[in-house]
Amino acid sequence: MVESKIETKNKSQELFEKAKKILPGGVNSPVRAFDPNPFFVDHAKGSKLYGADGNAYVDYCMAYGALLFGHANTEILNAVKEQLKKGTLYGAPTALETDFAELISKLYPSVEMLRLVNSGTEATMHAIRATRGFTGRKKIVKFEGCFHGAHDNVLVKAGSGAATFGVPTSLGIPEETTQNTIVLPYNSREALEETFKREGNEIAAVIVEPVMGNGGLILPQNGFLSYLRKLTQEYGTVLVFDEIITGFRLALGGAQDYFNLKPDMTTLGKVLGGGFPIAAYGGRKEIMQHITPAGKVYQAGTFSGNPVSATAGYTILNILSQKKNDIYPKLEKNCADLKSALVDLAANYHVDAQVYNIASMFQIFFTSQPVTDMATAKTSDLQKFQAYFQELLNQGVFIPPAQFETCFLSTAHSDEDLKFTIKAFDGALYAASKKSRSTK
Ligand SMILES: Cc1ncc(COP(=O)(O)O)c(C=O)c1O
Repeated sequence: MVESKIETKNKSQELFEKAKKILPGGVNSPVRAFDPNPFFVDHAKGSKLYGADGNAYVDYCMAYGALLFGHANTEILNAVKEQLKKGTLYGAPTALETDFAELISKLYPSVEMLRLVNSGTEATMHAIRATRGFTGRKKIVKFEGCFHGAHDNVLVKAGSGAATFGVPTSLGIPEETTQNTIVLPYNSREALEETFKREGNEIAAVIVEPVMGNGGLILPQNGFLSYLRKLTQEYGTVLVFDEIITGFRLALGGAQDYFNLKPDMTTLGKVLGGGFPIAAYGGRKEIMQHITPAGKVYQAGTFSGNPVSATAGYTILNILSQKKNDIYPKLEKNCADLKSALVDLAANYHVDAQVYNIASMFQIFFTSQPVTDMATAKTSDLQKFQAYFQELLNQGVFIPPAQFETCFLSTAHSDEDLKFTIKAFDGALYAASKKSRSTK
């Protein structure tokens, strides 16, 4: 067991108190707030975040998966600096937007046409509208635990009993909206089959995270994705792969390349922007041709395709295209090493744990049950997770503060970082082993 290294958080406490007076909950996105207070960031470079208190943290949050190359990557920054001299926003088209879109389409052949937008939320919102415009149908299917952004159609959980009525997960969302969203358990072929038999002809789209990164880390099982592909094809329903996390992370060509499946539409974000805000939605030409001004499905955006984000995105995709054969195997190996360390340490301290990894994503659940959907994910002991998280932070390792998130590696994580992290895992698993199971 290693000793905790980080003691003081005075400056962050002070900054958090000040922030709470002007920002709801003191943050600009809810998952950033945690007890007793988040550490505030001063700057970041490579694999590390440097806090306002003067502490360094090896970062496995990586802006919730957005930073495949780590923080402040020099090549991306240099490209952006050049673009800044030429202007930041034009309100008129550029050749770069077309080049960038062509490159995305080359890497994702299922994306025959696309639109650049600013965030993942925008991408999924517009993708869903496009599927409804194209099919003339109202209903959509999503899976419990999959997150597709913070808009009304997808902030929905399953209603009690009947799968047909989705219930808003937030105040301010009319039930009339969510009644068109059917929520099914992830990995359940039976639930899908039953739903499609009943009302498949009314379903415009199924939207899915091909690997669930928002429920912890939940992997698709037993041909779930290929069954989904087959079923949606049979019913003329548009299959949307939400690859905002998995795109450029599972492989250069995303989950669709990794699992060799062709969705009708895809949403991309996070890694796509190389650390700058940009996202995309696209897919079959016959669907995308319905988007304004080519068609009648409305979508617009002042900052869409802005040259700064597009430059960053175009740069990262070019580097990835050149170096993919080095980058992805190395990330996968590093991630598998961290997973093995967690498995061994959990056994060593007699902690019930399930540890999952794929490509450069990993997560631990404190449960004896295999995790295949949200119901099993929720069997994880959240108090143990909190003890694990807090001790990692004390040791100088930052992971997303919630159980139902995923940890991400970047190309900036060095062998030294990994060794440091495995030492910290030791302390964190020991801390988790000392917490008795929550009775909640
Ligand atoms: C799978 C998935 N889709 C959509 C989103 C929303 O993206 P954004 O936060 O850029 O709006 C997220 C964000 O975490 C996500 O993980």
